[in-house]
Order: sequence, then C-alpha cells, then structure tokens
Amino acid sequence: MTVDVARQVSIRRLTPEEVRNRAHELADMLIDAVDAGAQVSLMRPLAPLSAVRFVLDVADAMKRSTHLFIAEDAEGIVGAAQLVRASAANQPHRASVDRLLVHRRGRGRGVGQELMQELETSARVMGITLLTADAAPGGPGERLYRRVGFLEAGTIPGYALDPDGAPTDAVIYYKPLH
Ligand SMILES: CC(C)(COP(=O)(O)OP(=O)(O)OC[C@H]1O[C@@H](n2cnc3c(N)ncnc32)[C@H](O)[C@@H]1OP(=O)(O)O)[C@@H](O)C(=O)NCCC(=O)NCCS
Repeated sequence: MTVDVARQVSIRRLTPEEVRNRAHELADMLIDAVDAGAQVSLMRPLAPLSAVRFVLDVADAMKRSTHLFIAEDAEGIVGAAQLVRASAANQPHRASVDRLLVHRRGRGRGVGQELMQELETSARVMGITLLTADAAPGGPGERLYRRVGFLEAGTIPGYALDPDGAPTDAVIYYKPLH
C-alpha cells in the first residue's frame, strides 16, 4: 500500500507570532480564495500587499478574541479558519466561525471538515456553548456547515457584496454545543 504523504494534513492553532511569520503564506491562500470567488470580506482583485495587511490585522485581533487555526500538508498551509469569541459582556458563551478557507489545491478531501471539527473541539474547551456562522446560499460553505451539524436560522438579503461588487444574500447558521 502506498501512503500519499503529500495528502496528509495536520490541524493546529497558530500564535499571533506564527501568523506574522507566515503572513505571506496565509495571504497567498486568501488571494487564491478571493480569485475563486469566495466571500471572505475582501474584493477582487486582491493585491498581495492588501492580503498581507489583512493577515497582520488578524494577528492583532488575536490579542483580543480571535483564534486562527490552520491545516497544513507537505506543501504548506492548505486551509484556515477563525474562531472569534463574541466581545459583548452578555455573550461569553458564543463564538463565530469566520473565514473558513481551503486552498483550491486541497479541496474535496475533508480538510474543511477537519478544520471545523478542531474549531468545535477547541470551542468546547473554552466553554463556548453556541457557535454561529454565515455562508453564501448554495455554496460549499453551506454544505459543510450543514454536514457538521449547523442549523439554519434564516437568510438576510443583500448582506454583503461578492468579490466583484454584486450584492449577495447570507444564510445564518448556528450550532448549540451541548
Ligand atoms: C467551503 C470550503 C472551506 C470546503 O473545504 P473542503 O476542504 O473542500 O471541504 P471538504 O473536503 O470537507 O468537503 C467538500 C466536499 O468534498 C467531499 N469530500 C470530503 N472528503 C472527501 C473524500 N475523501 N473524497 C471525496 N469527497 C470528499 C465532501 O463530501 C464535500 O462534498 P459537497 O461539497 O458536495 O458536500 C472550501 O470549498 C472553500 O474554501 N470555499 C471558498 C470559501 C468559502 O466558501 N468558505 C465558507 C465560508 S462561507
């Protein structure tokens, strides 16, 4: 039996320092996602410098409420997702899943699902009992959220712009962690 080492993936949480050190690698993944039409706060075309700045802002946010998880294989970072704790004093039990991304080279082999499982496990350890997320209707994010047990709360019309500037809806999801 041949073991395809290049396909083996490990998931881990990065420190802010590691995010800064690997900002270019993370930026490359963001550019790939936005090029492919992913709705992750950013517009197309995404310049490398803007992508790096965005990643460095995430590193700063990690001092407060953001946790960044990555999936790595033999070629480097292949996926990432953020777990963002609610900042409101009356929502200590809630966190959102933000910017779940898998590079096109690694899609369709369970990396996204593994990232979600790791986020959920870490959220439970932090005492989080409610996860929220949003996704573009009919996209791969929606299918993944449903597959890992998220429930649909409803659709907000015209929630955001797609990477080319067209208004798009968002489907809001939640998952109680019992
Ligand atoms: C959404 C996203 C993160 C999913 O990542 P992924 O690693 O491809 O996710 P998975 O591999 O776990 O699942 C993707 C598909 O592959 C299938 N799959 C998983 N492992 C598989 C395997 N070993 N063999 C064959 N198919 C497999 C899954 O069943 C799933 O099928 P479906 O989409 O028809 O339901 C990725 O498509 C992405 O980055 N999209 C752009 C950004 C985005 O939309 N993010 C979501 C936030 S809204």
